Amino acid sequence: MAKYRIAWMPGDGIGVDVMEAARIVLDALKLDAEYIPCDIGWEFWCKEGDPLPQRTIETLRTCTCGLFGAITSKPKEEAAKELAPEFQDRGLSYRSPIVRLRQLFDLYTNLRPCKAYPGNPLNYRDDIDLVVFRENTEGLYSGVEFHPFPDEVREVILGHNPIMARFDAVPGIEMAVSLRVITRAGARRIIRQAFEYARKFDYPTVTLVEKPNVLRESSGMMTRTAREVANDYAEIELWETNIDAQMMWLLKNPTDYGVLVTSNMFGDILSDLSAQLVGGLGFASSGNIGDDFAVFEPTHGSAPKYAGLNKVNPTAMLLATKLMLDWLGEIEMAQALENAIALVIAEGKKRTYDLGGDSSTLDVAHAIVDRL
Ligand code: NAI
Ligand code: MG
Repeated sequence: MAKYRIAWMPGDGIGVDVMEAARIVLDALKLDAEYIPCDIGWEFWCKEGDPLPQRTIETLRTCTCGLFGAITSKPKEEAAKELAPEFQDRGLSYRSPIVRLRQLFDLYTNLRPCKAYPGNPLNYRDDIDLVVFRENTEGLYSGVEFHPFPDEVREVILGHNPIMARFDAVPGIEMAVSLRVITRAGARRIIRQAFEYARKFDYPTVTLVEKPNVLRESSGMMTRTAREVANDYAEIELWETNIDAQMMWLLKNPTDYGVLVTSNMFGDILSDLSAQLVGGLGFASSGNIGDDFAVFEPTHGSAPKYAGLNKVNPTAMLLATKLMLDWLGEIEMAQALENAIALVIAEGKKRTYDLGGDSSTLDVAHAIVDRL
């Protein structure tokens, strides 16, 4: 029996292309693993009314971890139209399977390293090394949303917070509400992960990026918790910044920062900017990590216009594979893979279109294998 069972989830579009590259690299590394194909994505929404079929969830429960390509998501009305006729009037509504996976398996840490590899012509600067810790299960993406906004809910809120009276004149149908839920336990565990990482890899600071001056309660909870957690890490300084200003500072002085930690939506925004500083979507990897399970993925989507063309940059996917190897404890393999990726970038001979080259996805994968 292989040492690891890895759930193999290419998903849609270029997810399939980049996962093929990952497989070439994993086979070359001779990771002692069995890869279990899992159905996920748009096709299964259209055919079965569920982009994350129950059988996939059950298979995932038997796996060590998962590797995920990308999925296609579409807004509510468009998604409903593409559903097979037999599912049309069952009141199904599309929910992103990756967001569901994160919540189902309590993968509360979204780890997004953004490192500038020397020689990447898309680097904003060559010395950037940022690691974003984004809370992955709650915050504004908790999924507790209302439209129309029910009168009963409004009444209850009004009883606890008079500011709600400002909206008295607005009918429920004219109003949509999403709850930004921050729990103390949720805040504590993501912030602790950030500090642990900073300690392990010698980052002198952890920057909490929130907005407590306006979001007094939810960002306030993050801030109070961060101060508490920071007490256990005397050698690491806690910096507190506001999300809006942080976007500006990150562009102005990206090398001032190392580990950054924040709630779900702020982290989504912060990590996309950070990714762009080091080459964009073709270079942005992420890990969705819980206490005993994890799913690794590039942060890009399914880029339908490039699907199946063997054209996009596999680096994000391969860096996600590197994160998986780290998580498995295969540190030497992880390091060898990262070194080979860095070498291919530095040499600049095999470059996909986003870097101005004409190499294919698999050309880059093979070049990396040659340098392992
Ligand atoms: P996208 O990330 O799929 O692509 C946007 C553009 O970025 C592409 O057209 C391409 O020019 C470039 N790009 C993306 N990945 C690249 C790579 N590896 N190498 C080179 N260039 C790359 O985002 P878009 O177009 O907004 O969304 C397409 C679909 O993907 C949508 O259905 C969206 O909902 C879904 N999506 C899924 C995600 C996931 O699976 N985690 C994340 C983001 C979007
Ligand atoms: Mg995003």
